[in-house]
Amino acid sequence: LKDERESLMIVSGYAQKYFTRFLWEENEGRTIGLSYFRERGFRDDILKKFELGFSPDGKTPFTEAAQKQGYKIEFLEKTGLTIVRDDWKRDRFAGRVMFPIHNLAGRVIGFGGRILKDDPKAAKYLNSPESEIYHKSKALYGIYQARREMARADKCYLVEGYTDVLSMHQAGITNVVASSGTALTSEQIRLIKRFTTNITIIYDGDEAGIKASMRGIDLVLEEGMNVKVLLLPDGEDPDSFAKQKGASGFQEYISENETDFIQFKTRLLLKTTENDPVAKARLISDVIRSVAVIPDTITRSVYIKECSKLLNVDEEVLYSEVRKQKRKQN
Ligand code: CTP
Ligand code: MN
Ligand code: MN
Ligand code: MN
Ligand code: MN
Repeated sequence: LKDERESLMIVSGYAQKYFTRFLWEENEGRTIGLSYFRERGFRDDILKKFELGFSPDGKTPFTEAAQKQGYKIEFLEKTGLTIVRDDWKRDRFAGRVMFPIHNLAGRVIGFGGRILKDDPKAAKYLNSPESEIYHKSKALYGIYQARREMARADKCYLVEGYTDVLSMHQAGITNVVASSGTALTSEQIRLIKRFTTNITIIYDGDEAGIKASMRGIDLVLEEGMNVKVLLLPDGEDPDSFAKQKGASGFQEYISENETDFIQFKTRLLLKTTENDPVAKARLISDVIRSVAVIPDTITRSVYIKECSKLLNVDEEVLYSEVRKQKRKQN
C-alpha cells in the first residue's frame, strides 16, 4: 500500500511537470493557457511558484505521453488523470489550465483544472477524484507555499478558491490556504493548527460565502482556535478584490476590516432583527451557540463580556444561555 501511494505520487509529479512544461513551451499551451493566466493578471513568478500548467486539448495527448515514458495505465487511472472505460480512455483535464495540489512536503497529490471559457453546461473546475493519496476533505490548497509564513506570522487566512490564494500571494500575503469550495472540515482546521491557532476567514462576498463563514466559525472555535472574519463587498472574492484595490489597498482593507467573530455575527444578524424582541432573542442564542462550543472557559468568558456589551444583555443571562446551549450540544 505504501508502494502504491508512492507510485501515485510519482505519476502525479510527472503529470505536473508535463502540464507545466506544456504551458510554457508548447505553442498551444502559451497561446491558450499562458494567455489565460496573463489576461487574469497573474505574474509569471506566481504561476511558477504554484507550478501551474496546461493540459492539452484532445482525447489522450497527456495519457499517451505518460505511457510512452513508461507510466502504467493502472496508476494514471487511480489518480484520475486518465478516465478509463472498457473500450476507450481519455484525459480527464483536457483543455484546462491546471492547479496542482501539494501536500505539506511539496509532493503533488491532486489537481484542479479550470475551463477557459465559462460555460453553464460544463463544470468550471474539475478536481481529481478521491484516491489513496488525495482526500478532498483533508487537503488544503496552498498549504505547502503558506506553511512557513503561517508559523512566522502566527496566523492563517482561509479563502475559498485557487485563484484567491494566487492573488493573495501576488498582493504580498503568503499565509493563505483555500478550502477549495468544499465544506470546511475539522481535519483541514487541524492541519492549520500545526502551524498557528489564529485563523481569519475571507470567503466570497455572496450569500454562500457568508453562510460558509458562519459554519467555519464554529468549526474553528470547536478546535479551540481563534477566528476572525473579513466580509468582502457584495460580489467580490479575494482575487477580484485584490486586483481592484492593488496590493497595498488590499492589505490596508484587510487590516481595517477584519473583525472578531462575535462582531461579525452580531452585525450581520442585527441587520435582520431591527426592533423585534423575538428576532433579537434568536440572534442572542445564535451568537451564544458559537460561544458555547469554545472549549476553554476563560476564552469563553472574554467573549461573553463582549457579547454583553454589543447586545446590551446582562452577562448572567448570557451565561445561562451558554449552559442551555451546552446541554443541547451534548
Ligand atoms: N470549485 C470546484 N468546482 C466548481 C466550482 C468551484 O471545485 N465547479 C471550487 C474551486 O476550488 C474554486 C472554489 O470552489 O476555486 C471557489 O469557487 P468559486 O468562487 O465559484 O470560483 P473561484 O475560485 O472564484 O474561481 P474563478 O475566479 O476562477 O472563477
Ligand atoms: Mn488513505
Ligand atoms: Mn464562491
Ligand atoms: Mn470565488
Ligand atoms: Mn474568483
